[in-house]
Amino acid sequence: MSKKIIAPSLLAADFANLQRDVEMVNQSEAQWFHLDVMDGVFVPNISFGMPVIRDIAKHAKKTLDVHLMIVEPDRYIETFANLGADVLTVHYEACNHLHRTLQAIKSAGMQAGVALNPHTSVNVLEDTIQDIDLVCLMSVNPGFGGQSFIENTYDKVVSLKRMIKTKGTDTLIEIDGGVNSGNAKKLVEAGADVLVAGSFVFGSENPTETIKNLKKEIA
Ligand code: DX5
Ligand code: ZN
Repeated sequence: MSKKIIAPSLLAADFANLQRDVEMVNQSEAQWFHLDVMDGVFVPNISFGMPVIRDIAKHAKKTLDVHLMIVEPDRYIETFANLGADVLTVHYEACNHLHRTLQAIKSAGMQAGVALNPHTSVNVLEDTIQDIDLVCLMSVNPGFGGQSFIENTYDKVVSLKRMIKTKGTDTLIEIDGGVNSGNAKKLVEAGADVLVAGSFVFGSENPTETIKNLKKEIA
């Protein structure tokens, strides 16, 4: 079985102590940083943008997994490549020409991810799955951290895993929203590869220990 990945979401970090929190992830057993970019249009919230990511990238020593919750993501593909994004995820619901967008992300030297809102069926990826490096299944409605996990996600993981196996691709399945020690193991058993965790990690007393325990649970 391939190695499972923990991706702490910096959306739940203390932005006034961002370097401290980035260093915590550097020192932890987590493999990725998950960075949530929100534009106030695609989702009803605004998070952070390029200058903040530039400064995070200066200190972060692990894979930068950038999740774009923005309209017209094509406009910024080059920009995020230059900022140091390793994985760039766009929303299916924000792309009129998803295939073209995926090619553009790859041409810019990044791994291409597609995120699906909770209401979007995994079946819409049937004809693009071979071009996708990562599918991010939203297990909450995007826009905010700290929401509760939507249980229907397990079924989506199973269906998506089946599609990936049938098509013979090596697409990773990422789960984003409401991940905690109560659902992590079950998600991985269903077929998830990457678990994003924001408030569960940064809201805990000892984030480093929380990451360690989460990793142990899914090992
Ligand atoms: C939500 C973001 C998530 C968020 C997850 O729109 O995409 O990455 O940070 O936060 P938690 O783990 O608190 O649900
Ligand atoms: Zn996210």
